[in-house]
Amino acid sequence: MNILIMGPAGAGKGTMSDLIIKEFDIPHISTGDMLRENVRNQTELGVLAKSYMNAGKLVPDDVINAMVEDRLQQPDCQKGYLLDGFPRTLVQAEAFEKIAEKIGRPVETVLALNVDFDILAERITGRRICPKCGAIYHIKNKPSRTEGICDECGAELIQRKDDTVEQLKVRMDEYENSTKPVIDFYEAKGLVSKIDASQNANATFAQVKEALGKVA
Ligand code: AP5
Repeated sequence: MNILIMGPAGAGKGTMSDLIIKEFDIPHISTGDMLRENVRNQTELGVLAKSYMNAGKLVPDDVINAMVEDRLQQPDCQKGYLLDGFPRTLVQAEAFEKIAEKIGRPVETVLALNVDFDILAERITGRRICPKCGAIYHIKNKPSRTEGICDECGAELIQRKDDTVEQLKVRMDEYENSTKPVIDFYEAKGLVSKIDASQNANATFAQVKEALGKVA
C-alpha cells in the first residue's frame, strides 16, 4: 500500500502511523523523524534543518525532496510506504509525483487528519517523546508507566523544542498556507479520506482502518 498521512502539528500522524504499521507491513517514513535524527547526529543536513525546525518553519524543499527520494529507493519500500509529513508544499508534491513514478508506486490514498487548534495545543504541550526509540507519549492521554521514562526502551523522555503554543501558531500558518493546497491537489485526484482526529486514538484509528480497507 502506498499511503500519505497528513494533518497539522499534533493531529496524531505519528500516533496513527504506529498503529497502521502494526496492521500493514509497510515502512513508516516520517520526514520530521528523519530530520530530528540528522539534528541529533549533527550531520550537514541536521545543522541546516535545526534552525528552521526550532522556529516552526518548513525546511527548504530541495533538501527534503532529495532526502525522501533517497529513502524511497531503499529495498523495504518495495512493499509500499506510509509517508508522514511529506509532501508539505506543492513543490514537494510535484517532485513526489516524479519520485513515485520512478519507483513505480503511485499514491493510493491520502489520510487527512482534522483537529481544532485548542485540542492541538493541548496535545502538543503535553507530548513527550523518546529520543532513542521514537515512542510518543502524552502526560494525560498516554502517560508512560514511570513518569519521564520510556516504557519501550527505558530512555529518559524529552519535550520537543518546537512543542510550544508560540511555535504551534507558526506551524499552523505554514500548514494553512503551504500544506492545505497539497490536500486540495490530492482531493482533485479523488484520493483523500478525511478523518476526524479530535476523537481518542482508538476511535480515530477505527476511521483510518475503514479508509484503508477501501484500498487494501
Ligand atoms: P513533524 O515531525 O512532521 O511535525 P508536525 O507535522 O508538526 O507533527 P507532529 O510530529 O508535531 O505531530 P503528529 O501529528 O505526528 O502528532 P503525534 O502523533 O505526535 O515536523 C517537524 C518539523 O520538521 C516541521 O515543523 C518542519 O520544520 C520539518 N519538516 C518535516 N517534514 C517537512 C517537510 N516535508 N518539508 C519541510 N519541512 C519539514 O501526537 C501529538 C500528541 O497528541 C502526542 O502526545 C499523542 O500522544 C497525542 N495524541 C495523538 N493522537 C491523539 C488522539 N486521537 N487522542 C488523544 N491524544 C492524542
